[in-house]
Amino acid sequence: MVTAPGINVQKVETSKLQSLSLENIPFGKYFTDHMLEADFEDGEWKNIEIKPYQPLLLDPSTAAIHYGQAIFEGIKAYKDGEGNVFMFRPLDNYKRFNISAARMQMPLIPEDVFMEGMRLLVDLDKNWIPGQDDHSLYIRPFMFSTDSVIGVKPSDKYKFMIILSPTGPYYNKPMRIYVEEKYSRAAPGGIGYAKAAGNYGASMLATAEAKKLGYDQVLWTDAVDHKYVQEIGTMNVFFIIGNKAYTPELLSGAILAGVTRDSAITILQEMGLEVLEERINIDDIINAHRSGLLYEVFGTGTAATISLIRELRYKDYIMEFAVESWKVAPELKKRLNDIRNCKVPDRFNWMYKI
Ligand code: COI
Repeated sequence: MVTAPGINVQKVETSKLQSLSLENIPFGKYFTDHMLEADFEDGEWKNIEIKPYQPLLLDPSTAAIHYGQAIFEGIKAYKDGEGNVFMFRPLDNYKRFNISAARMQMPLIPEDVFMEGMRLLVDLDKNWIPGQDDHSLYIRPFMFSTDSVIGVKPSDKYKFMIILSPTGPYYNKPMRIYVEEKYSRAAPGGIGYAKAAGNYGASMLATAEAKKLGYDQVLWTDAVDHKYVQEIGTMNVFFIIGNKAYTPELLSGAILAGVTRDSAITILQEMGLEVLEERINIDDIINAHRSGLLYEVFGTGTAATISLIRELRYKDYIMEFAVESWKVAPELKKRLNDIRNCKVPDRFNWMYKI
């Protein structure tokens, strides 16, 4: 059992796992026996404890509910054939968590609270890690402001928590995507690069409207010209055009620096593709499709991993793809999953052993 100084652990008497099957489990619906909770008060993190998963009691004036100082992360844990437990690139998520915190004027989390707390919690609930392909234990660290006051200002108090959810695939099949030109996910100077709760709330109307038209998600375009592509739903996006891979550059500050995006770039390069991080104009995507060079489009994300796009619609122009014949995205997904499921050596040093 892993131990960490300063973290108080209170265990459940009976695991809920006895009455739940981890076969074919949906994404994010079930939670493990324990959770981590810590409070930021008087300028420091305190009361760090792991305890039975339970509801929170919050004052109705809790600041986060009103003004949205709330951020989160998504990380996955796996186990190998011998029962060893690994998290995929958790330090990258830790660093991004603090980047989000800084943007939202929230306190930073010390590395030992985040990493040791997460290690201890995952170790305690490791029996909840599903063994099937495309399944894992989804780790959700999050922080929100807890001042009981409805004046608009950065809170003095915050809660940091981690919950765990045994989980199956986020999207089960290739997706149909609508290129969004009316609503925006992120604007220059905004919070697009932060994993802030409000980014997700603000995306729901556009997604609902796309769903009414029969699409699964939207491809976000920039907020100024609605020409430069940004992300697909909650994922980063890649295009295979000719023998090169293209993905939107991060410099605009409107795009989340995905850990899976970064892993995909590394593996695509290993596969021999040149990867270009650029501003990508939707007109260039259309032109590539018209000239027969747009071979594949896919999303990358922690929850969804690699998600194939079978249709992309821009205004009335519809691009359909025969995903069964694709070479790049399926190979990328296989290489990534083989590393995460410990089927091949961890040549990039991405697996963090608990
Ligand atoms: C993730 O991939 O972890 C995400 O952030 C998507 C999530 C909102 C389900």
